[in-house]
Amino acid sequence: MLARVWSGSIVGIDAVKVGVEVDVSGGLPGIVMLGLPDAAVQESKERVRATLKNTGFAFPMRKIVINLTPADLRKEGPCFDLPISVGILAASEQVSAQLLGDHLFLGEVSLDGSLRPVAGVLPIAATAQKMGITGLVVPVDNAQEASVVKGLTVYGFKNIKEVTNFLNNPGGYQPVEFKDTVETYHTTPLQSADLREVKGQAHARRALEIAAAGGHNLVFVGPPGSGKTMLARRLPGILPPLGFAEALEVTRIHSVAGLLKNRGSLVRDRPFRSPHHSASGPSLVGGGSFPRPGEISLAHQGILFLDELTEFKRDVLEFLRQPLEDGYVTISRTRQSVMFPAQFTLVASTNPCPCGYYGDTIQQCTCSPSKREQYWAKLSGPLMDRIDLQVAVNRLKPEEITQQSTGEASESVRQRVQQARDRASVRFQEEANLRCNAQMQSRHMHKWCRLDDASRNLLESAIRKLGLSARASDRILKVARTIADLAADDELKPQYVAEAIQYRTIDRMQ
Ligand SMILES: Nc1ncnc2c1ncn2[C@@H]1O[C@H](COP(=O)(O)OP(=O)(O)O)[C@@H](O)[C@H]1O
Ligand SMILES: [Mg+2]
Repeated sequence: MLARVWSGSIVGIDAVKVGVEVDVSGGLPGIVMLGLPDAAVQESKERVRATLKNTGFAFPMRKIVINLTPADLRKEGPCFDLPISVGILAASEQVSAQLLGDHLFLGEVSLDGSLRPVAGVLPIAATAQKMGITGLVVPVDNAQEASVVKGLTVYGFKNIKEVTNFLNNPGGYQPVEFKDTVETYHTTPLQSADLREVKGQAHARRALEIAAAGGHNLVFVGPPGSGKTMLARRLPGILPPLGFAEALEVTRIHSVAGLLKNRGSLVRDRPFRSPHHSASGPSLVGGGSFPRPGEISLAHQGILFLDELTEFKRDVLEFLRQPLEDGYVTISRTRQSVMFPAQFTLVASTNPCPCGYYGDTIQQCTCSPSKREQYWAKLSGPLMDRIDLQVAVNRLKPEEITQQSTGEASESVRQRVQQARDRASVRFQEEANLRCNAQMQSRHMHKWCRLDDASRNLLESAIRKLGLSARASDRILKVARTIADLAADDELKPQYVAEAIQYRTIDRMQ
């Protein structure tokens, strides 16, 4: 007999509906699997055989042909264990096939019959709903994530026995309700990081506020121990939470990366990713034979923090240029090309020279000028050109260190950031996908970054003096727009442009 069970597979951060056809017929006992399965899908045969035996079902001692459609799509991962099991049970008439037409099944099966969570459930659920599926059957640990999709009834089960009971008696089980739980996925613990603990550093704090309000890229340059890492870690605390549409985008990416397993439903906090400087190109931008999102996509709508920027390999950093400009990255393989969103704010930290003390007020720099020049050559150039806020951080003076910190708390800074962002969103009402000033294109700047004569003169002389590129000058205008938003001003006054220019520290230091 023939049974067809629906399942799904991930392509990039999208999904396709996959049909699992199982035919059990006369002939020598054995299992054949067709339709471009990868190694993990091939192994499914053995897992399912053992599981069904262990859980008290009869494994048909006949010829079993499993065909995965569409035939030209490569199928990967263990998520087909459950649909294959259900297909074999339905084809051998051990379970009712009544619900198979409009339900979709996903899940890895352990040898004892328990269901294990799989990656990519959210995008598959969204696609299933669009393609007329009404019910979704997933491992219980994936159920919250799937329940985000409206118009789909989601059932979460612990083991294969529960799934078969449900198929035979659908009325006996309750679907999962959507709960908007707050989840954080920070790679470093940030809970206790508050700006209140930062002493002094008014200049750096101001830069953080501007970066948060406009989504501008930021680099801290300063000697060891000046607080660069400390400051950068406090940026997530002053960012507004993700809106619903943003949260869906972020959750989808994290789902594909397998980070949501055993977790709640939606990612609501802005991601903060701080990959180690030994990170490879693919781990940063994404890759693999079935392309997976890299750190820059996991940082989508949040922060990518590159601590000790010069320690990263230069060719790895080069990979960041295109996504920084476009907000997405395309990964091409012979069979497919996928696009991952990557709209992130880049925050970096670096020493000003190899010994770390160039420009320090306390310790002398021991680097030769040529060594320092080499260092700067590595730092500056195309990547620095894309960093709007280049901020020198000096070490605290002895009297500052011994003082109690009297800094403003993150929460009150966050409120100002929110107000500035609200102001920008009113402006961006008519523009789909434009969420902060850093994302403005030239036509937007033409509309919203008009300069009066005094501001134009200021900018012109900065371009001349600092040898700025057209890109750098556009970036200055965007920062100036954010500074104006923080001041609740619609006009780009000269003082805002002047402040934006003084954040080109590195250009000035050369
Ligand atoms: N402005 C500051 N206020 C309070 N503590 C500070 C400040 N700057 C540095 N520190 C202390 O020094 C430590 C080292 O700072 P860190 O951020 O690691 O420096 P860097 O990354 O510049 O080398 C911090 O963990 C913190 O305890
Ligand atoms: Mg540090």
